[in-house]
Amino acid sequence: MDDKQWERFLVPYRQAVEELKVKLKGIRTLYEYEDDHSPIEFVTGRVKPVASILEKARRKSIPLHEIETMQDIAGLRIMCQFVDDIQFVKEMLFARKDFTVVDQRDYIAEHKESGYRSYHLVVMYPLQTISGEKHVLVEIQIRTLAMNFWATIEHSLNYKYSGNIPEK
Ligand code: GTP
Ligand code: MG
Repeated sequence: MDDKQWERFLVPYRQAVEELKVKLKGIRTLYEYEDDHSPIEFVTGRVKPVASILEKARRKSIPLHEIETMQDIAGLRIMCQFVDDIQFVKEMLFARKDFTVVDQRDYIAEHKESGYRSYHLVVMYPLQTISGEKHVLVEIQIRTLAMNFWATIEHSLNYKYSGNIPEK
């Protein structure tokens, strides 16, 4: 696929990320009106860069014609203050009627070997397009501010040193 074809392929993913950012940020706004503790501190979203999609497809042996099975082309991140908020947000997302949870990975009950902690949900989001409904997979990572701080720095360290971090 050339750059233009990739851009076209990514259009529904960009739309899904934008729509879900509005919806999830909206939850925080609703709590602010109630003067109640919001379980959501802030929300970010991104579409995976084409180079990362290709690298992951190679790493996981995903053929290009099955690329839409990749669960994190569209990604949202929800940051919370407290670990207990994560459980609350998770239950809120399970109860929603505008998407369906299709997969979950709990790296909080059991952190990854690296020390990484977060709760991951994969949802099937029915996007309304000009040619009808299109189902898009979206990965939603839920973590505390502290877990996010750790993951951000660990990611840049590993990126910088490609895993060969000096002992000291
Ligand atoms: P990726 O190929 O990395 O997407 O992993 P995966 O498809 O096997 O799924 P997994 O749930 O393990 O990880 C998905 C995402 O979680 C990654 O893209 C990162 O955003 C995050 N993540 C997972 N493990 C780590 C880690 O050890 N450190 C950091 N910083 N982030 C991680
Ligand atoms: Mg990923």
